[in-house]
Amino acid sequence: MRHFLSLLDVSATEATWLLTEAARLKAELRQGIRQPLAAGRVLGLVFEKQSLRTRASFEAAMAQLGGTSIFLSAADGAMGQREPVADFARTLSSYTDAIVLRTFKHETIEEFAHHSRVPVINGLSDRAHPCQALGDLLTIQETFGGLKGKTLVFVGDGNNVARSVAVGCGLFGMRFILAAPEGYGFDEEFLTQYRRIVPEGELLVNGTPEHAIGEADIIYTDVWTSMGQEAEREERRRKFAPFQVNEALLAKAPAHARVMHCLPAVRGEEVSPTILDSSRSIVFEQAENRLHVQKAVLKWLMLGK
Ligand code: CP
Ligand code: NVA
Repeated sequence: MRHFLSLLDVSATEATWLLTEAARLKAELRQGIRQPLAAGRVLGLVFEKQSLRTRASFEAAMAQLGGTSIFLSAADGAMGQREPVADFARTLSSYTDAIVLRTFKHETIEEFAHHSRVPVINGLSDRAHPCQALGDLLTIQETFGGLKGKTLVFVGDGNNVARSVAVGCGLFGMRFILAAPEGYGFDEEFLTQYRRIVPEGELLVNGTPEHAIGEADIIYTDVWTSMGQEAEREERRRKFAPFQVNEALLAKAPAHARVMHCLPAVRGEEVSPTILDSSRSIVFEQAENRLHVQKAVLKWLMLGK
């Protein structure tokens, strides 16, 4: 059974197909075409954490494809508490055709997938956010007309989003540079996995945003404190303060460089208050593209393209 838990599980050929299919589905939707490819199909969504984009875009995707979805939050019986993850997975996967999971621990998704009878899609874990990275790649392709050779500078935490974006860049021959404070870069486990999948991929990790910014086509950031890390908020605020994406930093980037953020953003922390509302920002294109890439993922895994 094929699942989509990480971009590390996806080949460059599959990723290319997903982006091409997403662009095609987007163009089709623009023309008002909604093909009921998933008529009678049911998507399960099990979310341990809050969400706007991931939940709403998957539910909208299923509705546009003629299927339906069932959303379960922690209030409906947190996995592993009311009953074991394995029982939850066996039961829910007997009612559904695919399941999207958003969990605190990546291991929960892996355990769930192990017991699921239907494909499982990672809708964000502490390790990875592959659907986000796919939407981001489509957005970069649309904005710059291609991916190969582009430089993305990720300023901030080497977190779930950063890891998935790094792998996505590797799959498409992009240069990825992480500018993170000491202790918040990529861990050895990820670096080993990354090197196995993208051996020739360039992945630079260094401490200062200024160093890399002059070569950036894209400046990407995400929150300093991810969901589940709230107890570290004050410490993170202090350590990440020099890593804000603001007008002064952007002034050192090429004029064509664009700002990306997976959203939700904390304006005044990782981004200055108005930068995401400026003409340099492509964050709402990113948000929209989640819908189109996830439809492609559903076609691939749930409908066997
Ligand atoms: N970017 C993203 O995944 O947003 P949500 O947390 O709102 O789903
Ligand atoms: N890194 C953030 C992304 C939210 C979409 C988090 O995990 O909270």
